[in-house]
Amino acid sequence: MDQELMRIGVSLPENLLTKFDRIIEHRGYSSRSEGIRDAIRSYITHYEWMGDVKGRRVGTISLIYDHTKRGLSNALTDIQHDHSQIIQSSIHVHLDHDNCLEVIILDGEGEEVKGVAEKIMALKGVHYVKLNTALPSEGH
Ligand code: NI
Repeated sequence: MDQELMRIGVSLPENLLTKFDRIIEHRGYSSRSEGIRDAIRSYITHYEWMGDVKGRRVGTISLIYDHTKRGLSNALTDIQHDHSQIIQSSIHVHLDHDNCLEVIILDGEGEEVKGVAEKIMALKGVHYVKLNTALPSEGH
């Protein structure tokens, strides 16, 4: 059943709107409204998924950060030592003069896995963080 459509007004910085328009054009949306509806749906799905991580999860946290940022490397190491019980391994690649790519592999309680990602996201100098989790039994 079609729901009644509500109209909202949104103010956005121009560069954000330009980027968004480029993506919806590339993806073939017929209108900006359709693109925004889809973006809000994935935002909600992502949020609900992030909130539902109870029980054992295996996962990875990928991050890119500026290792020249004072104190950042130490802060990242401290976080990983605080959660050494659930961190299985990590891979570090020196991307260029300033930036590092790290992939952390975790196996443990979902809430704690999520907590590690959130602590990393809160650090200044971290440019990108992506958490992926799966149930250990998925695919069997
Ligand atoms: Ni490095």
